[in-house]
Amino acid sequence: MNSLLDPRITAEMAVLQREAARDSERWQARKASQQEAASSLSPNSDSIADPLIRMGEFYLGVSSQEGKLLYNLARSKRARCIVEFGASYGISTLYLGAAARDSGGRLITTEVHPEKCHATRELIIRSGLDEQVTLFEGDALVTLKSVDEQVDLLFLDGWKGLYLPMLELMLPKLSEGALVAADNVDHTAAAPYVAAIQADSRFVTSIVGDMALSCFAG
Ligand SMILES: C[S@@+](CC[C@H](N)C(=O)[O-])C[C@H]1O[C@@H](n2cnc3c(N)ncnc32)[C@H](O)[C@@H]1O
Repeated sequence: MNSLLDPRITAEMAVLQREAARDSERWQARKASQQEAASSLSPNSDSIADPLIRMGEFYLGVSSQEGKLLYNLARSKRARCIVEFGASYGISTLYLGAAARDSGGRLITTEVHPEKCHATRELIIRSGLDEQVTLFEGDALVTLKSVDEQVDLLFLDGWKGLYLPMLELMLPKLSEGALVAADNVDHTAAAPYVAAIQADSRFVTSIVGDMALSCFAG
């Protein structure tokens, strides 16, 4: 079974990727001008990307290569419980939701931006993934406290400065052999996360491109 070939999912994916590509040009233009302004700020302006992203209007979605990687990781692991930090408009949610369906598992995704929550909720229904995917609306550091099952795959793609507190929150819920995939770890704000997980002997971490893949070896 390959739900990525489900016509409802491929149709939604095509629309999202088209809109995200258009959005990406807008994002690059905005980022360049903001970074120029930011370069005159104090050296302690590591988190300049965060206020930018916090504006919340951008897709900032995974590429189709990254999306397929997420599907492959979740599916080949037969992940029963997947948790996603940061759904945005749901591109990665579709890949992980498809893997959850094909593995007989479920995906809990999270989003704090109200408009994105509304759009992602509708997307989940239109793509026929509503039995497998649940959206927790609000700050994931709060909403994910209620997860009471073992998590086999945790995907981190929200604000980079929250990766470490998110790992600390989810650590007791990780199953043995769980995979933690963190995107965009080249962002300065993700540095404390990268340092902590690489120094933690319970994890085996490899960084592939801008994604950190860590197995919770226990
Ligand atoms: C990079 S985007 C996610 C892209 C998405 N994973 C995809 O591939 O389509 C990051 C998202 O995380 C959300 N986010 C950031 N901090 C959050 C938090 N504390 N709780 C829930 N969502 C959060 C933002 O609103 C934003 O939409």
